Amino acid sequence: MKVFNNIYLIGMMGSGKSSISKLLSHEINFKVREMDEMIEEKFGKTINDIFNEFGESEFRIVESLVLNSLNQEKMCIISTGGGVILENDFNKIKKSNAVIYLKYSPKYLFLNLNKSISNRPLLDEENLLNKINDLYKKRNLLYKRASNIVIDCDGKNLEDIKIEILNII
Ligand code: S3P
Repeated sequence: MKVFNNIYLIGMMGSGKSSISKLLSHEINFKVREMDEMIEEKFGKTINDIFNEFGESEFRIVESLVLNSLNQEKMCIISTGGGVILENDFNKIKKSNAVIYLKYSPKYLFLNLNKSISNRPLLDEENLLNKINDLYKKRNLLYKRASNIVIDCDGKNLEDIKIEILNII
């Protein structure tokens, strides 16, 4: 394994960041850090309630604080929220960490997300594919720029994705 502090998993909602984090942590001796859960703990509220009561901008401020606090840690797999690339500069993070973009095209994200949009305030059932397409168009390049490893995940199962990551890091 190469020398780096942490592994950051980035990508759209529904790209399996949480699942892959758990699978990886069983293989390497790194702890999982779930950013969304840490934010929920800070507020004592669900992501949905945070968005409803405080708005997205307040959520993003706390998200950045949590990210900065994690930058001080070592040997963690950090499962980020999909929007973490919007207001945070990963250029510095990239220098001493593995930042892995789990890249799925919208069609696959739609299949992954169709069953699990609850507690995802930026999505709703109506026009789900359009919404995913919009976010993807705005973010795909940001994920690519923020990362130093891109995994093309379309059509692959989680085990294969895990193995691909283990072969690269
Ligand atoms: C968001 C993704 C969510 C969560 C919040 C905003 C986004 O995390 O942080 O709902 O802007 O893409 P997941 O990517 O884990 O669903």
